[in-house]
Amino acid sequence: MNAGIWGMGRYIPDQVITNFDLEKRMDTSDEWIRTRTGIEERRIAGDEVGTVHMAAKAAQKAIEHAGIHPEEIDLIITATVTPDHSFPSVSCEIQHEIGAVNAAAMDISAACAGFMYGIITGKQFIETGAYKHVLVIGAEKLSNLIDWEDRNTAVLFGDGAGAAVLGPVSEGRGILSFELGADGRGGKHLYEDKYVKMNGREVFKFAVRQMGESSISVIEKAGLQKEDVDFLMPHQANIRIMESARERLGLPPEKMSVTVNQFGNTSSASIPLTMVEELENGRVKDDDVIVMVGFGGGLTWGAIAMRWGR
Ligand code: COA
Repeated sequence: MNAGIWGMGRYIPDQVITNFDLEKRMDTSDEWIRTRTGIEERRIAGDEVGTVHMAAKAAQKAIEHAGIHPEEIDLIITATVTPDHSFPSVSCEIQHEIGAVNAAAMDISAACAGFMYGIITGKQFIETGAYKHVLVIGAEKLSNLIDWEDRNTAVLFGDGAGAAVLGPVSEGRGILSFELGADGRGGKHLYEDKYVKMNGREVFKFAVRQMGESSISVIEKAGLQKEDVDFLMPHQANIRIMESARERLGLPPEKMSVTVNQFGNTSSASIPLTMVEELENGRVKDDDVIVMVGFGGGLTWGAIAMRWGR
């Protein structure tokens, strides 16, 4: 039994903060942020909007897109480093909010690689036949962890949520291969101590290496060639990191999905947010080969190669 994606949805907060808005708050410039990161603006959730709210909205859209009812969800996995509470879990709160009364529920903490960890975990339950529908969500309110006095980090992040319903798909489609990894020695380069703390250069070096290596690894494990890839969907942290992965695969620019300019780095939400953008634009067709790859604090990483469609 192959696991694949039946439906996806996202939630994007209304409030837009542009680089020019940040220029007024700290010693930075639109030019610096755009050329170093590719970010032009980001969305920030207001005080009344928490991670659960964003996640539940994204989940409802994904369930609708999948054409099933909330009671048919067997398991909810939410990847987040910004839960509204340490417990109950975001997933339990979502279960209540959307009426997924038959679902088990748990959260995953793997920072910006969280959505990859969630998808790969959910895939196991479907492929063993234990569950039929697994709801995987990446949702973050990173604005809660931003020190607006620290220009090194404040310009990078944004809020949002993305969700996918996993289910069994026909042979040859769905998730073809995966890679997951962690290196706790690098935890000191990106961590939370009330606010996000980061050694940008170390994270940059790690990310460039890992994004390229993990992408190639999942392509090879799936028995594919680089030329078979229709979309590279990388974690949206920095356009320069993303471009290096694209070049490593020898793909033309139009084969890489980019939303970092609009949303900044939304951590575990960034890959599903981007995938929904491509679906809404009608760019993804059945049987397209998609490589999703993420990295984050931990340090963590994860990638999948998939063939779209049920
Ligand atoms: N505006 C203006 N100047 C800034 C700035 C900002 N927002 N943030 C940092 N600077 C300054 C630095 O203080 C430094 O000044 P100094 O040389 O006087 O000390 C200068 O810009 C250059 O810093 P540098 O570290 O060389 O820049 P960079 O080209 O490495 O880009 C990052 C910095 C953070 C954009 C880059 O390292 C990066 O993206 N790293 C990965 C981060 C990431 O992906 N994190 C999330 C992981 S999930």
